[in-house]
Amino acid sequence: MTTGSDGLVPRRTQVVIIGGGPAGLLLARKLQLAGKESIILERQTREYVLARIRAGVLEWGSVEQLREAGVGGRMDLEGFPHEGVGLSFSGRHLRIDFQENVGRNVMIYGQTEVTKDLYAALDEAGVPIVHEATDVMLHDLTTGSPSVTFSVDGVEHRIECEYVAGCDGSHGVSRSAMPASILREYERVYPFGWLGILSETPPVDDELIYAHHERGFALCSMRHSMLSRYYVQCPLDDDVSDWSDDRFWDELSSRLPPDAASRLVTGPSIEKSIAPLRSFVAEPLQHGRLFLAGDSGHIVPPTGAKGLNLAFSDVHYLFEGLVDALAGGSTTGLDTYSDRALRRVWQAVRFSWWMTTLMHRFPDTGDFDRRIQEAELDHLSMSDAAQSVFAENYTGLPY
Ligand code: FAD
Ligand code: DHB
Repeated sequence: MTTGSDGLVPRRTQVVIIGGGPAGLLLARKLQLAGKESIILERQTREYVLARIRAGVLEWGSVEQLREAGVGGRMDLEGFPHEGVGLSFSGRHLRIDFQENVGRNVMIYGQTEVTKDLYAALDEAGVPIVHEATDVMLHDLTTGSPSVTFSVDGVEHRIECEYVAGCDGSHGVSRSAMPASILREYERVYPFGWLGILSETPPVDDELIYAHHERGFALCSMRHSMLSRYYVQCPLDDDVSDWSDDRFWDELSSRLPPDAASRLVTGPSIEKSIAPLRSFVAEPLQHGRLFLAGDSGHIVPPTGAKGLNLAFSDVHYLFEGLVDALAGGSTTGLDTYSDRALRRVWQAVRFSWWMTTLMHRFPDTGDFDRRIQEAELDHLSMSDAAQSVFAENYTGLPY
């Protein structure tokens, strides 16, 4: 367990943040810089959180938020700004140029590294982070003095606070603390998963390649010049043990355009996992003094690289509202948080759904559907307007 500088769990703070993933950590950092107190309660150990391999693409708004939060130094040194992305289909490679279309880039910098940088900054500032917090429960959320109880090493604690930020991801407790009568949930489950591997090999290309192929979708991504991240669409009921490294490389190679496949350098995987694909939105993102941010309120399929970025845009809106309210000023920012955040969330949900539908082979994809997918990709290749719309969404809509 990590606690305040005196080693004790404080009894009172301004904001209890449940969850020490990217959303919770960034919110804590922004509050600390604004002179506001918070405590993070995290269910896992720090080592576990830092070992998770997840997202790799930062929208420019996320990059700027990290810089403003004073945690952009290593990202700017070690991350890679990308000025475009490749889409491959029907043996063709289409490059969409972000700079030409919208004048901004994305940054390749892993979620694991973002998390490390945020932990380092919070540690240095002495922001308490309680790890291995179990039985987290939220109380009195519709009163002026909510509290959160939890246990660490079998000892129960209670923290009184002014606000609770539910940043505890899709399997957390915060959303379930909202009464079912006010909650509306929207969901689409996709009939396939993504099998992802990390390998210490040079990436197949300088930019990402999203590949549409009759055998299924594939994605070539990277972390740096000797670390590649690749994904292939797989059946939902496949197990990682069904996929030897050789099988993975053969399948990936068969889904790439020949010139990319000929450049593919293979090697042992150092991580291999399967993730299901789902779109999910809970509305509203507020109940009394509880506010949901990030995956606790919504999930997108990874195709548009939006999950982490949406967590950060939620934090942007929530922070604005909290700072005003904690200063004893207006609560308008908090009162409108759910609507403002959800407006942007639904744009990303739409884009991720569209890109997933366009790029994957569905079990019921017939000849007609495939021709429609090809026609849409062909339209993207011939239309500057369509490319601008893609670039605008992929690099991130404004906050
Ligand atoms: P999380 O990162 O989930 O953090 C929530 C934290 O809350 C966790 O540390 C969790 O341990 C903690 N927690 C949960 N329950 C409790 C509790 N009861 N009490 C205390 N703490 C609790 N996005 C992309 O854009 N690209 C990708 O390639 C990609 N790959 C992904 C792969 C996987 C396997 C998963 C699960 C997600 C992936 N995502 C990806 C999505 C992206 O990683 C998330 O959108 C992002 O992590 C959201 O951040 P968050 O802080 O909201 O939630
Ligand atoms: C990565 C993951 C994605 O979901 C995506 O769309 C792009 C890149 C990645 O892990 O690098």
